[in-house]
Amino acid sequence: MCFKLLKKDKSKSLQNENTDIKAELEDKKMKIAVLTSGGDAPGMNAAIRAVVRTAIYKGAEVYGIERGYNGLIRGEFKKLEVRDVSDIIQTGGTKLYTARCAEFREDEGVTLAAEHCKKFGIEGIVTIGGDGTFRGALDLSRKGINCIGIPGTIDNDIACSEYSIGFDTAMNTAMRMVDNIRDTAQSHDRCSIVEVMGRNAGFLALNTGVACGATSIIIPEDKEFDIDDVVAKILETKEQGKKHFIIIVAEGVGGVEEKAKYIEAKTGIESRATVLGHVQRGGSPTVRDRVVATQMGYHAVELLLAGATCRVVVMKDEKITDYDIEEALKKGSPLHKPFDEKTYEIANAVSI
Ligand code: F6P
Repeated sequence: MCFKLLKKDKSKSLQNENTDIKAELEDKKMKIAVLTSGGDAPGMNAAIRAVVRTAIYKGAEVYGIERGYNGLIRGEFKKLEVRDVSDIIQTGGTKLYTARCAEFREDEGVTLAAEHCKKFGIEGIVTIGGDGTFRGALDLSRKGINCIGIPGTIDNDIACSEYSIGFDTAMNTAMRMVDNIRDTAQSHDRCSIVEVMGRNAGFLALNTGVACGATSIIIPEDKEFDIDDVVAKILETKEQGKKHFIIIVAEGVGGVEEKAKYIEAKTGIESRATVLGHVQRGGSPTVRDRVVATQMGYHAVELLLAGATCRVVVMKDEKITDYDIEEALKKGSPLHKPFDEKTYEIANAVSI
């Protein structure tokens, strides 16, 4: 853990009526900022709200940076007050906008961002996003700006955290969409091959597949995957009376159109392909995403106010705690979590 000494007082009591003293106290308030970066995820707004409100509650000033590290490189800080984050807890997307920033991968961009922070008096930043966001946070903290990451990605692929904000909402959205597809697959005795998001990780596909009773789930982690095994399973279960089939494919594997054609040719079952796409990234966050985002936002501010840096807020054994970003990044790039073999095995067992 790398804790730094707190330079400024939280100046809890602003009771003195003397305006000079008041101004001085205002000046001593710790200034922190918050940004969202990478792909958005439902619940990011709840996290922003928690960061802003916790910071103000604990006597700090808080600034929003728009469009991730792009806004930081431009030195754009917008002061946020309690009411600026009203009515966003229930909304998807991110009020602060988001972006993937190529310039921030260069030392020049990080240096410029750190200079803006120092000039503006920003001592710490909460960065909400995925592994790319944390790499940026690590680089920035090396330039003397305290950074705390919060995992926000529907892929849930942050190695050191059991949970990432947005995962539950995305799973529920995907599940509802696949349920709709099942209705029509059932009516037509068809096989539906559905692609769900997850560039390098199959967590979303695996859980959606289990929740939707998929016949097969195809994920990038399974290196031994063979489309003929899927064909064999369809034929075997058809023999036992199954009339329609749902096959879930993670985006990282892809190729749903070709897979549908191949399955139709080999089984004689009419097949259709659907790519769910960005519908999974939006929508009102679920209870879990709102609550976890709020807990993580609160924890992140507590860390910053205590002078911590280079930490990522994580969920471990269903509890909110934190982990060293540098250590997490050493685990590999990108930070993929070990594959959930047990659930994969269960999915296979119950899809006969
Ligand atoms: O945020 C993660 C994710 O949704 C992945 O599942 C997907 O591969 C990627 O983002 C899509 O990114 P973009 O919105 O930039 O196309």
